[in-house]
Amino acid sequence: VSDPRIYGIKAKIRVVPDFPKKGIMFQDITTLLLDPKTFKDTIDLFVERYRDMNISVVAGIEARGFIFGSPIALAIGAKFVPLRKPKKLPGEVIFEEYELEYGSDRLEMHVEAVDPGDRALIVDDLIATGGTLCAAMSLLERVGAEVVECACVIELPELMGRERLGGKPLCVLIEYR
Ligand code: PRP
Repeated sequence: VSDPRIYGIKAKIRVVPDFPKKGIMFQDITTLLLDPKTFKDTIDLFVERYRDMNISVVAGIEARGFIFGSPIALAIGAKFVPLRKPKKLPGEVIFEEYELEYGSDRLEMHVEAVDPGDRALIVDDLIATGGTLCAAMSLLERVGAEVVECACVIELPELMGRERLGGKPLCVLIEYR
């Protein structure tokens, strides 16, 4: 996406060195949320892209994917489905595990929330290695949904997460190198 509003969005994201541990440049979107105009610009850019793409479900990834995914879902008239960390969802779930730097984590989804033939948009704040989005895609595809695209505010292109998405389109607003 190329749009003048992106400069304002980028300016509101705080980069915190050595958080949560040494060597990590943490992309803090909470500073963007403090500015309603710029937060709205962020949502609007995605809504303008997805409003006419017949998206029936927006799947948001815990935790920051909820913040961006819910307003996008409301604005385009799609249902919102949270993809959650383990043991948070009370209904019947399916899960996918993915690797972290140390150990692994897991995402869960309510099986009855998504129907075969649903057209899905997956939303998160950031793609790093792509492991999280990859797990999210598998969850949706396992229940017969079609993943139309993934959307993130920020991409760390040096980690090549995009390569792990198997050619699935990924839309990002900001690349951080
Ligand atoms: C961050 C980020 C993405 C994920 C991206 O979440 O919000 O969900 O990492 O990393 P990947 O592309 O290497 O998989 P985090 O694990 O910090 O969880 P949180 O949002 O619940 O804090």
